[in-house]
Amino acid sequence: MEVAPARPVPAVTLRPENQYTSAAKWFHWLTVPALGIALLSGMTIRFIVDDTKMAFYALHESLGLLLLALAVLRLGWRLRHPPPALAAHLPRAIRIVADGVHLALYTLLIVQPVLGFFTTNAYGFPQQGDTAFLGLIDLPAFMNARPDLALQLHWGHSILGWLLAALIGVHVAGTVYHHAWQKDGTLLRML
Ligand code: HEM
Ligand code: HEM
Repeated sequence: MEVAPARPVPAVTLRPENQYTSAAKWFHWLTVPALGIALLSGMTIRFIVDDTKMAFYALHESLGLLLLALAVLRLGWRLRHPPPALAAHLPRAIRIVADGVHLALYTLLIVQPVLGFFTTNAYGFPQQGDTAFLGLIDLPAFMNARPDLALQLHWGHSILGWLLAALIGVHVAGTVYHHAWQKDGTLLRML
């Protein structure tokens, strides 16, 4: 029986200098599920009317602050550890788009939770009691309630949430395109 040859893995991606470091991979893949849950919980809180609503706030806000801490650590680390060079054949336009999307994702990973934090404080709902950080730790009230400001911040948090979801869509579509069509091993750099 004839055995189909294994699909060749682009050698360029298997060289250590073309791989993200394991720290970069850990930062990346810890962020993915946490951000997925933060986005989904944020978008669904408004539809929850019973006692679980407060649990959703606690989950969403705690995860959001943990994501902020992770993003700050990640950025600090990233500034001192440049990523592996992109494959030489990639056109300039693709490089610019990929770098632009990565930069926008990093920016939103910081700005979005900060905006959420100010939103809930401006509503007059600091992370205390039912919505304490991790369900346990009461955080100090950061400001007096300012409902007018809260509405504007909420609006910004909502728009950036959808922008983040759209950027992740573009990012994942780009990865799938490179992996399945170009077969240039881009995904393997991050695995
Ligand atoms: C990366 C982290 C975060 C993401 C991706 C995120 C995303 C979202 C999204 C998509 C929404 C729905 C917006 C809408 O109402 O249309 C939302 C709502 C909200 N988020 Fe976040 N959020 C994050 C972090 C935080 C943090 C850290 C806090 C507070 C400490 C927070 C507080 C809120 C509040 C109070 C709402 C309004 C929920 C409601 O009553 O409908 N978020 N978030
Ligand atoms: C959930 C949200 C995600 C966020 C916020 C995110 C964020 C990022 C960022 C900021 C980078 C750039 C890393 C750097 O150069 O420092 C990156 C790289 C990468 N991501 Fe994601 N990512 C997400 C989801 C995914 C998913 C689901 C996949 C796979 C299907 C993926 C595949 C990749 C790959 C392959 C790279 C390396 C690209 C290259 O070769 O330079 N990402 N991601």
